[in-house]
Amino acid sequence: MTDTHSSRENVPLFTPLTLRGVTFANRLWVSPMCQYSSPLDGVARAWHHVHIGSFATGGAGLIMMEATGVLPEGRISINCLGLWNDEQRDALKPIVEFAHQMKTKIGIQLAHAGRKGSAMPPGADHPFASVEEGGWSAPAPSAIAFGKMPTPHEMSIDEIKRTVAGFADAAKRAVAAGFDLVEIHAAHGYLIHQFLSPLSNIRTDEYGGPLENRTRLLVQIVNAIRGVIPDSMPLFVRISATDWVDGGWDLAQSIELARVLKHIGVDLIDVSSGGLSDQQQISPAPGYQVPFAEAIKKEVGIPVNAVGLIHEAEFANELVASGKVDAVMAARAFLRNPRWALDVAAHLGVNIDWPRQISMGKKK
Ligand SMILES: Cc1cc2nc3c(=O)[nH]c(=O)nc-3n(C[C@H](O)[C@H](O)[C@H](O)COP(=O)(O)O)c2cc1C
Repeated sequence: MTDTHSSRENVPLFTPLTLRGVTFANRLWVSPMCQYSSPLDGVARAWHHVHIGSFATGGAGLIMMEATGVLPEGRISINCLGLWNDEQRDALKPIVEFAHQMKTKIGIQLAHAGRKGSAMPPGADHPFASVEEGGWSAPAPSAIAFGKMPTPHEMSIDEIKRTVAGFADAAKRAVAAGFDLVEIHAAHGYLIHQFLSPLSNIRTDEYGGPLENRTRLLVQIVNAIRGVIPDSMPLFVRISATDWVDGGWDLAQSIELARVLKHIGVDLIDVSSGGLSDQQQISPAPGYQVPFAEAIKKEVGIPVNAVGLIHEAEFANELVASGKVDAVMAARAFLRNPRWALDVAAHLGVNIDWPRQISMGKKK
């Protein structure tokens, strides 16, 4: 690093971004990552303190906590984090407080796995949990299995109502735990995405068929959450912009959806892709999902972030500098180096604050 630092204005990745009442110090964010570390009860453990805490000491503008089940039957695995009770809420509070002590914003991704639920955690010797092991019959829009997973049951209208209420109750707990924002997980083939895609939703009631019906569950969830979180709190939605399968969910439908979401108070679309079908044809390469984010921003005029194989400082900065996206999320780069944002800043010649405890290491 040289003695002369660029001013932040010259390095767009390290300029602040304000959404509603929250100002992110920079636009390099930690993407949500499931940790499968809350055996059976969905309660955060020491692992979460270390995992999230290490990002909090590392300069990222936002940490998005992992896919967190809003209901017991909404978890991916029997060991996933949950937010359907107050014990789970209270265990998250010190993690949020620590992030705030480190001057880092922190959000939580609220999720329901639908037909991809009742799994065993990675590393188990069998893939699906029996009822005796804490598993459940997975709910889904239609009784169509994902790949070789067990066939789910079609959700009743009462189950759909319970799900909408589950998202709203979890959002209330997220506010009480002190999170800066909430993200709805509507991507990667989980429940909301299952409702969006005609490949997994063949319902004939008001939740199936035309786009307006397939998007109904998500719209109801957004409205329910907006009704219980403060006006000053941003609401993000992560979508899969395409199923990468002919006849499935695609960019055109994503753009239509984003228009509706913007209208009902969503502040940013977190643009990912895939995960709905084992038939997906996908060739991941650096920034391969960026064109989807760029198109949604351009067509709808809503803030977006890109994610997916963005692991290089100049590339991340260029995506923001070009105006294609408003922010960048990364997952695996932060797993390899939880203080990656400090490294990226140094690489780009930006002088950002380090936590007091480690600041003497900043001098080369
Ligand atoms: C260990 C791990 C866990 C993940 N869990 C989630 C999750 O909880 N929610 C989610 O939306 N995406 C999840 N993802 C996907 C990442 O958020 C990200 O979109 C993906 O890894 C692509 O970004 P990358 O190339 O920077 O890793 C996970 C990825 C990893 C590596």
